[in-house]
Amino acid sequence: MAYQVATGGKRIRAALCVVSCELFGTPYVESLSFAAAIEHIHNLTLVHDDIADGDARRRARPSMWKQYGIAHAINIGDVFVPLATEAILDAEYPDSLKLRLLALSAEQALDMVEGQNLDLNLRQSDAVGYEHYFECASKKTGAFLAMATVGGGLIGGAPEADLKRLREFACLGGVSFQIRDDLLDMEGDKGRAPGSDILEGKRTLMVIHAARLATVWERRRLYAILNRPRESTSGADVAWAWQLFRKTGADEYAARTATDLVDRACEQILDLPESVAKYRLLRLARYLSGRRH
Ligand code: IPE
Ligand code: IPE
Ligand code: MG
Ligand code: MG
Ligand code: MG
Repeated sequence: MAYQVATGGKRIRAALCVVSCELFGTPYVESLSFAAAIEHIHNLTLVHDDIADGDARRRARPSMWKQYGIAHAINIGDVFVPLATEAILDAEYPDSLKLRLLALSAEQALDMVEGQNLDLNLRQSDAVGYEHYFECASKKTGAFLAMATVGGGLIGGAPEADLKRLREFACLGGVSFQIRDDLLDMEGDKGRAPGSDILEGKRTLMVIHAARLATVWERRRLYAILNRPRESTSGADVAWAWQLFRKTGADEYAARTATDLVDRACEQILDLPESVAKYRLLRLARYLSGRRH
């Protein structure tokens, strides 16, 4: 457990929770227990996600399954659920607030599992549409950003209408965050060698867009590379897929879509009263689509 927690990560979900709490005039310290709970559940998803995706590195270190074996990684992943529950139960929140936070966590975690299920199943199809990607990213990634943002708002005392806006903000921002994550796998620093999305055969927005604009021959070759077992995919295959993304403008399309989604996310919260916290939340939103890690 210490190994996973010490690898840190950006803690963007915790930050969203804290700032959303401050947005309603409540001191940020009150949100820290729930912010910790979210990062615990996030850690569970990362540990299990690396097993499912076959990724041997996470946050510039061997991933949990690589370091301790799959059996321990499953077990250590599991432990973050009770840890998160205890973080909420032990917090100094009224019981009614604890109940709402637990309900929110369960609801969003179910969406996350559904999103991960879609992410895995879409890899069986060579006819994935844009709408499939958006649904998948909104669930597997947007749901946790919503857990953080809506949870922070709940602790802060937000009215129902504002909670709805925060949820919408987070879902749009979450898709943007996932698109950026996909782009970073191609050209950035994710703390592991780039290209694993191609090796895993992941149906990213770039794959969908490139497949739509490619010739029949290119599309066949792209899917042949994606559908090949990870160990039989060469560096040249990955380079060819990236070159197709560039040729079709799929990488630029993805970057543009990430920025547009953040614009739409920010619109959701523009009517909230002016405050330093609102400014911080808007800055965090920009970071979702522009980050380099
Ligand atoms: C990685 O999340 C998984 C995705 C949803 C893309 P983060 O990029 O927030 O991971 P850490 O916690 O900062 O390492
Ligand atoms: C992970 O998406 C989403 C969740 C963990 C819920 P990815 O599979 O793209 O995340 P990375 O790239 O491994 O961080
Ligand atoms: Mg992964
Ligand atoms: Mg994954
Ligand atoms: Mg990824």
